[in-house]
Amino acid sequence: MTARILDGKALAKTIRDEIKTEVEQFIAESGVQPGLTVVLVGDNPASQVYVRNKVKACQEAGMNSERIDLPKETTQDELLSIVDRLNNDPAVHGILVQLPVPDQIEERAVIHAVTPEKDVDGFHPVNVGRLWIGEDALISCTPLGVIEILKRGGIEIKGANAVIVGRSNIVGKPMANLLIREHATVTVCHSRTRDLPGECRRADILIAATGQSQMVRGDWIKPGATVIDVGISFIEKDGKFVQVGDVHKEEAMEAAGALSPSPGGPGPMTIAMLLSNTLKAARRLVR
Ligand code: GUN
Repeated sequence: MTARILDGKALAKTIRDEIKTEVEQFIAESGVQPGLTVVLVGDNPASQVYVRNKVKACQEAGMNSERIDLPKETTQDELLSIVDRLNNDPAVHGILVQLPVPDQIEERAVIHAVTPEKDVDGFHPVNVGRLWIGEDALISCTPLGVIEILKRGGIEIKGANAVIVGRSNIVGKPMANLLIREHATVTVCHSRTRDLPGECRRADILIAATGQSQMVRGDWIKPGATVIDVGISFIEKDGKFVQVGDVHKEEAMEAAGALSPSPGGPGPMTIAMLLSNTLKAARRLVR
């Protein structure tokens, strides 16, 4: 068997085009341009790339996007006062403080500081709580993107055994909730799971979000299962650094029925969902 590819890059392009049309309609109706402000503290090279891509994607979708670059010595109080100003700025509908932040700043303080109504990352405890009790919420972008890949890829979630490997606040935990909401039976595995390959083999839908490169092997996959690879890491191969995911792609291609690989799967969808969250926040704030 060769797995069908669930192409996150192509789907992200489709969704970004759809959002662009919705943004045009929103501006025509409200006279307001949705706006996202991205804050980056320090000069982490990976964060620089992520932030550049987020701002560019917003602008391409017709939204206003501003970037605030702060020096790596910025204090927590300085950052929180900027967040407070953005919370109170009516032209700003989404606020994203790129993580990680330097050591002198507590990540938790930043997550708590962004008003839940503008929290397009879906990291604030109010949004996490709203998600868990089934209220309308801004939801973490990566798991939202995975649900879109599954739905638009024609994968039946209802009644499926879904197994998530990884229990992070950003991916594993919200992913579990979104899958429960879609009526899957969900297992969340982690580093202390007793028989990880065995748990994975029970999955109709297997979602790998561990950060361990190529950890999920072909014989962990039930033949015909759907596999979603959320991991992004770099390994050295033939003297070059290449991007790989948490799943051994070649082996998964043989075993799975459908595969959303990394790179080219959930990664590009994360930005599409950030645009979607920003438009959603603007719709709720502009009445
Ligand atoms: N750093 C890596 N991924 C993310 C993300 O989704 N949001 C924020 N704010 N920072 C990140």
